[in-house]
Amino acid sequence: MKQARIIGTGSYVPEKIRTNHDIEQMTDTTAEWIVARTGIHQRRIAADSQVTSDLAANAALAALEMAGVAAQDIDQIIVATITGDYPWPATACIVQNKIGATNAYAYDVSAACSGFVYGLANAYNAIRSGAASKVLVIGAEVLSRIIDWGDRNTCILFGDGAGAVVLEAQEGDCGILSNHLHSDGSYLELLYQPGYGSCNPLSAKADPGSLPYLKMQGNEVFKVAVRSLSAVAQEALDAAGLSTSDVDLFVPHQANRRILEATAKRLGFTEEQVYINVDRFGNTSAASIPIALDEANRKGVLKDGDLVLLDAFGGGFTWGATLLRW
Ligand code: COA
Repeated sequence: MKQARIIGTGSYVPEKIRTNHDIEQMTDTTAEWIVARTGIHQRRIAADSQVTSDLAANAALAALEMAGVAAQDIDQIIVATITGDYPWPATACIVQNKIGATNAYAYDVSAACSGFVYGLANAYNAIRSGAASKVLVIGAEVLSRIIDWGDRNTCILFGDGAGAVVLEAQEGDCGILSNHLHSDGSYLELLYQPGYGSCNPLSAKADPGSLPYLKMQGNEVFKVAVRSLSAVAQEALDAAGLSTSDVDLFVPHQANRRILEATAKRLGFTEEQVYINVDRFGNTSAASIPIALDEANRKGVLKDGDLVLLDAFGGGFTWGATLLRW
């Protein structure tokens, strides 16, 4: 059976930088507080003219170029996002059109910050079953448009960006080894966007307490995130009969530096094994892992045959890990 191997990565972040000092001007907080509690120094913000599919298309084109694959040769496009261009149709269809991937079918995955690893699992299944031979998986978000910039509990954390990978069916030992996905819908109200949907439709002129901004109970999310990220990463290692010391690069969802460090410590990773860029981009939800992966790849950190562990957690709650041989 053929492997599903990543043969190209790409990413795109908007030019505009919003620093913690900028946020000091927008809400009741300080740059020092933000750095101490999150490790975030700055995040990128999409220009007014940019939408999620623009960021996604830029990342996708970079990944295709690295892979040496023409857009027309892609069989399937999966976009992981919670901030699509429209409620429907899928942003993946808009990306398909923008990049000219005329032979691909396209759909979105909605699993919040875990969306990219959910998308990778779908790509793996499509390739292993023989249904596809080249798949583009993209994580893309313009979270700045669902954030209340006056809410200090949330606005300090998030940023905009996109990352993409091209997977190809290949013979050999390299590729995705396993996917481990979980959800628990009982945590809905700890992290969600109350409007607008069938629960709280735009037509009903929602009450002010239900404005369509992202809502979060940060300290509760924090505890479950560390527990879940650690457990699913361990599950992936156990399934392969491997241990933390076998991993060349651990790429966790870039939620918050304290979450990443607590998770890495629980699992026993050294600082050198863990990829962190949350200081520069904040939490970009589904885009965070593919942006980190692309940075690591372009810096030459990843070598053929390296063992890489991706680890994600997000609203839903959803969480998951992907173990792969680079
Ligand atoms: N600036 C200054 N003070 C702030 C603040 C801010 N931006 N945000 C909250 N505070 C205050 C609170 O009002 C509270 O004050 P009080 O003690 O007078 O009531 C105090 O700081 C502590 O609040 P708490 O919410 O317990 O802080 P925390 O240490 O948990 O840090 C988060 C808050 C949001 C940074 C942290 O909970 C977090 O990162 N959670 C995970 C969120 C996340 O990653 N979500 C996405 C998952 S995919």
